[in-house]
Amino acid sequence: MGKKVLGLSFGRKNKNCDIMVKTALMECEKAGHEVKFIHVDSLDIKPCTGCISCVVGMISGRGKGGCPIKDDFHILDEAIMECDAMIVGCPTYETSPTGRFKSVCDRIGPSHDITFRKAAYDEGIAAGKDPSKLPDARSFKKRVAGLISVGGAMTKNWLEFMLPLMYEITFSMGTDVVDMHEYYGAMAFEHVLGNEKEMERTRKMGQNICAALAAETEEERVAWRGDEQGMCPVCHLNMVNILPDRETIECPVCGSYGKLAIVDGKITVTYTPEEQNRSRLRWAGKLEHSTEIKTRAAGPGQIPDLKERLKPYIGYAE
Ligand SMILES: Cc1cc2nc3c(=O)[nH]c(=O)nc-3n(C[C@H](O)[C@H](O)[C@H](O)COP(=O)(O)O)c2cc1C
Repeated sequence: MGKKVLGLSFGRKNKNCDIMVKTALMECEKAGHEVKFIHVDSLDIKPCTGCISCVVGMISGRGKGGCPIKDDFHILDEAIMECDAMIVGCPTYETSPTGRFKSVCDRIGPSHDITFRKAAYDEGIAAGKDPSKLPDARSFKKRVAGLISVGGAMTKNWLEFMLPLMYEITFSMGTDVVDMHEYYGAMAFEHVLGNEKEMERTRKMGQNICAALAAETEEERVAWRGDEQGMCPVCHLNMVNILPDRETIECPVCGSYGKLAIVDGKITVTYTPEEQNRSRLRWAGKLEHSTEIKTRAAGPGQIPDLKERLKPYIGYAE
C-alpha cells in the first residue's frame, strides 16, 4: 500500500530546491506513494517566541505540545503528522540553512519532542483523558527523511554547516535520515534542470526513500543510503569537536562522545555503541535530554527577590 511522502522546499519558487524536491517526489509517486509538496516560504511561519508553554504544558499534563502563535504553522504541522517520509531541500545562506528553516526547526523543536509527547500521551491515556486533549498520536509514527542542501558556491566549504544543521528538522520527532545530498556549484548552472548529474542524483534520493518505505525490517528501513558512510556511524557526517581534555571528541550533530586516532596516517574516529545510542537522533539521547529538563530545570520562586533584582535592568539603555 502506498505511503505518504511530504516534500518541503525552503528555496525560491520554481528554482533549484523546489525542482529537486519535486523530482524526488515524482519518483515516489511513480512507486505508488501519495505525495504532497509545500513551498515553505509561501507560508506565514513566525519564529518561536521562547514562551516554552509547549513543554510546560506537556510536563504539567495540561497541554498537548501546541503553540499559541497564530500563523500558518498548523498547515505544515498537519502535513508532517500525516507523512511517512520527508524530502527536505534548503538553500545555503552564509554557509548554513535559511532563517525560515531554523524557525521551522524551532517550531517543531521541544513541542514535538517524542519523549515529552509520549510521556504526556501515556500518562493522559492512563488517567482516562480524551485522546483529543493529548499530544497527537501520529507524532510517534516512524518516519524517514532525505536531506538536500543546495549552495551556489563553487567551493564545497561554503556549504559547511548545511547538512549538520539540516539534521535539526529531524531531532525532535526522531525522523531517521536515510539519504542526504549536497549540490554545490549551483550558480554555475542557470537552473538545476540544466544539470543532469544532479537531476539523476535527486531521482536516486526519491528511489532511496521508496526503498526505505518498502523495508520489511527496522534495520532495512533505517539502512544508510547516502553516497558516503561518513565518520559518525549515526549521522554519517564528518564533523568533530575536540573537547578541552584533548582526548575526547564529540559529534556535534549527535552529541555523542568518542575517540580519535591516527592510523597509518589517516584520522579514524570511534564512538562506542553506548555513545551511539546517546545520540540526540535516537530515543535514548532524547530521553536523556527531556529527563534532565524535567528533573533539573528551576521553577519559579527559586530567587524570592527576583523582581527587586530585575529593577535596575528593566528599560536600561533601551
Ligand atoms: C543571502 C544569501 C546568502 C548566500 N550564501 C551562500 C553561501 O554561503 N554558500 C553558498 O554556496 N551559496 C550561498 N548563496 C547562494 C544560494 O545558496 C543559491 O542561490 C541557491 O541556489 C538558492 O537555492 P534556490 O535556487 O532553491 O532558491 C546565498 C544566497 C543568498 C541569497
